[in-house]
Amino acid sequence: MKYSINSGSAEKINTDCAVVVIWAKGVLSDEAKLIDSVTHRSISKITRSGDFIGKLGETHLIHSPAGAKAKRVLLLGGGDRKKLTAKDAAKALRSGLRVINKLNARQVHFALGSSVVTDRDGVWLAGRLTQESEDLRYRYDHTKSKKNKAIATKSISIATTAGSRRTNVEQALKTGQAIGKAINRAKQLGNLPGNICTPSYLAKEAVALANRHRSINTHILGEKQMARLGMGSLLSVSAGSAEEAKLIVMQHKGAKADSRPYVLVGKGITFDTGGISLKPGAAMDEMKFDMCGAASVIATMGCVAELKLPINVVGIIASAENMPGSKATKPGDIITSMSGKTIEILNTDAEGRLVLCDALTYVERYQPRSVIDIATLTGAAVATFGPHVSALLSNHDALAKSLRKYGEQCLDPVWQLPLWEEYQSMLNSNFADIANIGGPRAGTITAACFLSRFTEKYHWAHLDIAGSAWHSGTNKGATGRPVALLVEYLRNQKA
Ligand code: BES
Ligand code: MN
Ligand code: ZN
Repeated sequence: MKYSINSGSAEKINTDCAVVVIWAKGVLSDEAKLIDSVTHRSISKITRSGDFIGKLGETHLIHSPAGAKAKRVLLLGGGDRKKLTAKDAAKALRSGLRVINKLNARQVHFALGSSVVTDRDGVWLAGRLTQESEDLRYRYDHTKSKKNKAIATKSISIATTAGSRRTNVEQALKTGQAIGKAINRAKQLGNLPGNICTPSYLAKEAVALANRHRSINTHILGEKQMARLGMGSLLSVSAGSAEEAKLIVMQHKGAKADSRPYVLVGKGITFDTGGISLKPGAAMDEMKFDMCGAASVIATMGCVAELKLPINVVGIIASAENMPGSKATKPGDIITSMSGKTIEILNTDAEGRLVLCDALTYVERYQPRSVIDIATLTGAAVATFGPHVSALLSNHDALAKSLRKYGEQCLDPVWQLPLWEEYQSMLNSNFADIANIGGPRAGTITAACFLSRFTEKYHWAHLDIAGSAWHSGTNKGATGRPVALLVEYLRNQKA
């Protein structure tokens, strides 16, 4: 897919489809006016008829309007002209792109030069267009006999807004495309079934990524090596499975060797049956998505390399399959984590925290500047937030604040929950240093409290993406979140 700038006047551009904005109450944008004037008022006739009123995200396609250079003109509703927020703009772009993806149009031009987003600049709008375009081009067909028909559009051009520097817009087009592609990589890994996407598959995927990017080094730890490190907690999760657990270590070197890295840790449970504390059958298939945190880390690492970010980043994936079996961990079993802390397993379905805690101890060796873990950790996060926002808990206010800010900036929001001392005692155990569950209440918070016992040596934030990482129902599928947030955060860090 090719993205470029074309600042020519809207009515003079030869294209298979020109996209122009119509504001609320049928007010024509400057570009719409220009096309209208050379096409015998083909646009104002429609807006005056009342058939198309410029509601946000509304679309109307005009075929071969007489007098136009463009073979088609797509009217795109922008809503209230003075109130086009970033969220609105993204929504409108998605509506337009959905229509375009169904057309037989090789080249499409977005005539957005006069569109002003209230809380962003024109450079942002260009980047958002390419990100949304890539995102919406994603189709899953890996395990279908009938492959999807290719989307006809091969190139999209955009008119720059007055005042945006050309080089900045060009950069934004590239960055947005890289982020969109990374989101799709995360979606693809998430959507693959548990019998294909195993811990070994994720490891292979990480190695393949390292082979594509010179800045990335990957190494894989198997169960033997993890046992030698004392990772009894992580290994207690894979004990019931025939699939070998893997700790995947990916390192992006974009700065001097002694520059302390930013660390991402992903939960990579490639299928979560619950183990001996078996889950009920309904919707258990969705537990193939229990590695979406891992997918977001792999995809973000690829994007960081593609963008050549001038920082050091370490991505760790704690991957295992949670199965019942004769060797599976049982409720009441006590295991010893890499940190030395003993853990009483009261519920084998609280396995995410068990694989993460050893990975979180492992990363101490990097003296990280910050550690962010990403995990589909609790059903409670789904109940609390639904699909729209990821849960954030942190032991460092400045880190939490910046994640909130960057989430808002890239429209991949997070909302903070308290990590207060009062909740810690819910994890008390009569037989070990800590229990792996905190009871039925405040599940997202007590899960984070558990992790916090292993993150005392550095600045740490936890993202519970159980609600945001995939859609259920007829649109079942991974969303690729929170790749956009992670890239936005890393893009704004210094070496
Ligand atoms: N992977 C699940 C969390 C989950 C459940 C995400 C449903 C999305 C939808 C996690 O491993 C889990 O099972 N958590 C338990 C913890 C409980 C046993 C303390 C949960 O949330 O029910
Ligand atoms: Mn579980
Ligand atoms: Zn799980």
